[in-house]
Amino acid sequence: MTDRLHQGAALIHVSIRAVPLGRNRSIKSARVPGGNPAPPGTSHGNPAVRTLHGMTASQACIRKDRLLALIERERSAYQASFPGSRDAFAAGDHLLGGVPMTWMRMWSGGFPLYQAAASGARLTDIDGHEFIDFCLGDTGAMAGHSPAAVQAAVARRYAELGGATTMLPTQDAAQVAAELTRRFGAAYWSFTLTATDANRWAIRLARQVTRRPKIAVFSYCYHGSVDESFIVATPAGPRPRPGNVGAPVDPRETTRVAEFNDPAALEAELAHGDIAAVLMEPALTNIGIVLPQPGYLDAVRELTRQHGTLLINDETHTFSAGPGGCTAAWALEPDLVTIGKSIGGGIPCGAYGLTAELAERVLADPSADIEDTGGVGGTLAGNALSAAAMRATLGEVLTDQAFDHMIAVATRFTAGVQSVLDSRRLPWNIVQLGARAEYRFCPEPPRSGGESAAAADTELDEYLHLYMINRGVLMTPFHNMALMCPATAEADADAHTALFASAADELLS
Ligand SMILES: Cc1ncc(COP(=O)(O)O)c(C=O)c1O
Repeated sequence: MTDRLHQGAALIHVSIRAVPLGRNRSIKSARVPGGNPAPPGTSHGNPAVRTLHGMTASQACIRKDRLLALIERERSAYQASFPGSRDAFAAGDHLLGGVPMTWMRMWSGGFPLYQAAASGARLTDIDGHEFIDFCLGDTGAMAGHSPAAVQAAVARRYAELGGATTMLPTQDAAQVAAELTRRFGAAYWSFTLTATDANRWAIRLARQVTRRPKIAVFSYCYHGSVDESFIVATPAGPRPRPGNVGAPVDPRETTRVAEFNDPAALEAELAHGDIAAVLMEPALTNIGIVLPQPGYLDAVRELTRQHGTLLINDETHTFSAGPGGCTAAWALEPDLVTIGKSIGGGIPCGAYGLTAELAERVLADPSADIEDTGGVGGTLAGNALSAAAMRATLGEVLTDQAFDHMIAVATRFTAGVQSVLDSRRLPWNIVQLGARAEYRFCPEPPRSGGESAAAADTELDEYLHLYMINRGVLMTPFHNMALMCPATAEADADAHTALFASAADELLS
């Protein structure tokens, strides 16, 4: 059998044959109450369709046997279409889990696609298929793949001038810091190689200056592999997040947790007086997109100030909201900003910024060894290659104008999906945060990590991911997130809408 993408740039043919079923987790889904007016620069779409009679979103109109049959068909198509990737995966004998990084196993289909090349918003696999890439390296390639300005800067630094890592500064870093200050407001910046490290070091500095032992996070947050962050709020109290590998201590010893959009819950945690910093994304982006309700972020800021707790905005994903992330778009006033992934155009980098007042406190603290073995270092952090890449990315690629385009395309993407949800009366929702959008399987946008987690549906995820991949569109694995880069075209968004419509129609038929 042959299946074909009818609309959009990529045309691929997939032949279908049977393969064994892989993961088959049960559907977990929940009704989500209430509305949630969007802050500026964001959109919830129009949750016009509601589930009826308390039925969960994914059960309301979809026959389970139909869904499972479609997943089976799409798995077979995937296996048949990407033999090169399947063989490459099988050849990874000496890789832990068969892949360079174990989370690569989470791509749907039983094995990941193996990349041959990528440029702008396009990616080609080793079997020669071209994809519209809405995953964009889960934000690492938000500037698009290998944009020309970054290519030139990296080639110049590495090949012409030489010296990717020397323990000496180059002049690029100061330019990058100044640009980050223009965008995010924080007065002083330091560099890391990952967003995880930016968060780790921000937490350490916060503990140091406040002399407090704990941090606070929001339930179902993700801030990288930061030990303190793997904790969730449950009706029975805080619990380590299931699956936390080799935790050094129970995260309840280091961390307090509250649900997002619940100021009273945060206040109750802050009242203990032992929280150095609240580490937050201004909108959650790793459990669907959960936008702050009007006034919520003001309340967080007010409460943290009242309780002598610092506020860290992790803008690694929320950078999609605009050139200065949510911090600038919503006029937020964090004490620290952390960011990583995207700002080096794909070259590893990260950064954290401090207000002038906080920087003074850190520098004036004689017991803080921020220069040697104090736990805030990294031999290759701030290296010349990363600095050159960040300067080119921020200066020439992820510019203010580029964001206008990316956000316009994301708005078109969101409207396209919403029109499909409305016309098919599908009780799902889509939420946009600037240049990124994500659909979730509940009638209205979740207001907290807990609500959003309850709307997860691994079977629908798998079906939609495979449906898209088999027809030339890559979505972010682990969730249904789409990100626009400067090279993403309106036609790419429309191609996704057409596929989303046909995927929905097949489900509902
Ligand atoms: C909000 C946020 N912060 C930090 C990180 C960690 O990034 P990295 O894995 O590149 O260190 C992530 C990763 O997805 C993230 O989503």
